[in-house]
Amino acid sequence: MGEIRLVAGIDCSTQSTKAVIVDVASGRIVAEGRHEHEVVFGAGNSAETDPQVWWRALTSALAQTGMAGEVDAISVAAQQHGLVIVDEAGDPLRPAMLWCDMRATEEADGLVAELGGAQRAADLAGSLPIASFTAPKWAWIRRHEPEIARRAAGLRLPHDWLNERLTGVATTDRGDASGTAWWSPATGGYERDLLDLPLLGLEERLLPRVLGPTELAGVVDARAAAALGLRPGIPVGPGTGDNPGAALALGLAEGQPVISLGTSATAYTRSPRPTADPTGAIAGFADATGDYLPLVCVQNCTLAVDTLAGILGVERTAVSERTDVVVLPYFGGERTPYLPHANASIVGLRPDSTAGDILLAAYQGVAATILRGLDMLELRDGAPLILIGGGTRGTVWERVITSLSGRELLIPDQKELVALGAAVQATAVATGEGLGAIAQRWGAGAGRRVPAAETTDRDTADRIARVDGLLSDLNGEVL
Ligand code: XUL
Repeated sequence: MGEIRLVAGIDCSTQSTKAVIVDVASGRIVAEGRHEHEVVFGAGNSAETDPQVWWRALTSALAQTGMAGEVDAISVAAQQHGLVIVDEAGDPLRPAMLWCDMRATEEADGLVAELGGAQRAADLAGSLPIASFTAPKWAWIRRHEPEIARRAAGLRLPHDWLNERLTGVATTDRGDASGTAWWSPATGGYERDLLDLPLLGLEERLLPRVLGPTELAGVVDARAAAALGLRPGIPVGPGTGDNPGAALALGLAEGQPVISLGTSATAYTRSPRPTADPTGAIAGFADATGDYLPLVCVQNCTLAVDTLAGILGVERTAVSERTDVVVLPYFGGERTPYLPHANASIVGLRPDSTAGDILLAAYQGVAATILRGLDMLELRDGAPLILIGGGTRGTVWERVITSLSGRELLIPDQKELVALGAAVQATAVATGEGLGAIAQRWGAGAGRRVPAAETTDRDTADRIARVDGLLSDLNGEVL
C-alpha cells in the first residue's frame, strides 16, 4: 500500500451513525456525514433497531462526506452490548436488542443464580451480567423466541456486525467483547464456565474472533466496497465500543476521570488492572489499548431531560437559576442504581414551582446520579474532569456538573471523539504507528477549562440522595 493519507472513523450510536474522514498527518476532520436512525421503544422497556438501518445509515453518512473513495483505511466504533442474531449468510434474524433494552432482568438474575452468586459472576465476566449486557439478552431470546435461537448461526455486537458486513469475517475487539458478560477481561478469552451455563447454552463457534488493539479485522470486500463507495481491499481496524473508542481518541491516562453525556451518561477512567464489582455498579470493561476501562453507566441522561422538556412543553435549556424540586429521572428503567422497572419521579412541587424549576431538577438528578458513580472509581487526585458527549453542547450541563462536582472541567473542542477513536485504530492498522502516539499527535483531548466552583452545592446533592433513598423501594416496583 502506498502513502496512508486519509482514514474513515465510524460511530454507530443509538440515535445516529456518523462518519468522519481524517487527515492522518494532522488529525484534522476534513469531511463528515451523519444519518439519524430510529429506536423502537416498546412494552417492558424494550428498545430495538433493525441492523439493516445501521448499514443504510453508514452508506448515507459515508456518501455525505463525498470522500469515501479516497479513504485508505476504516474502523467502526459503536454502541455497546446490543445483541444481533444472524443466520448463515450473516443477515439478522430479528431486530437488535439494544443496550438500553431492559427486558432481560429475570434472565440476568437467573445467570447470577446459576453462577452461585454475584462475586463469582463479576470475577468471571468482569461485570455483573445485568439486563443491559448481551448475555441476559441471549437468555431472553432463548426463552421467549426459541425458534430464532434455534436458527442462530452467529451472535454479534453492533460493531461486530458492521465489521463482518465490511470484511466478510466475524471479528470483535476486547473493549466490545467485555460488554457481553461471556468474555473475560481478566483472562482475555471466552469463558467456558459462562458459555456452558444452562441459560446460555452457547457454542463458541457462534461468536466472533476477539482481536487485539491493533489487529486487522480484514479488508473491505467487493460487495461492501460497491455499496459504500470505498475502495476494495483497504484495511479495516478492529473497531470497538463507543466508550473505549472515545477514551482512545482522548489518549486517556490512568486515573483520569471522564464523564460522557449522551442518551445515557457514563463515568469512567483508565486502569492497568481488571475490575470485578459484585454490586454491578462498576462495569469492568477492557479498553481499546490493552488496558481496562472501569465504567459506571446511568441510563437516563439527555433523553430524560428531553423527555421532561417535551412533557413540560419548554425548550431543553429553559431552566431556572435554582430549584428546590427533586427529579429522579428514571424514565424507562435505570441501570445505576439498578432499577430496571422504575419510572421517573418529581418530588417537592410547590404552588409557585415553574417548568424551569422542574427541568433544572432533571439535570441535577442525572448529574448527581452520575457523580455518585464517578466517586466509585479510583481516580487521580487533582486531575480535571473531562466532559464529553452531545450533552456538552450548551452550558446547562456544564453549570450543573461544576456546581455539584466541585471539580475543574476540561471540555475538549473535538466533539466526534468516538468516530475519531475509530480513526485512530484505522491509522494504527494501516501505518503501524502506536495508538497512543497517534492520539497524542492528533491532540483531540485539548479544550476549554472551566474552573472548579468556589463552593460545591452539597445541599442539592444531599437532597437528591435523600429522596432517592426514600423512593428506592417504590422505584423497585412497577408503579
Ligand atoms: C455502556 C453503555 C452505553 C452504550 C451507549 O455500558 O451501555 O454507554 O455503550 O452507547
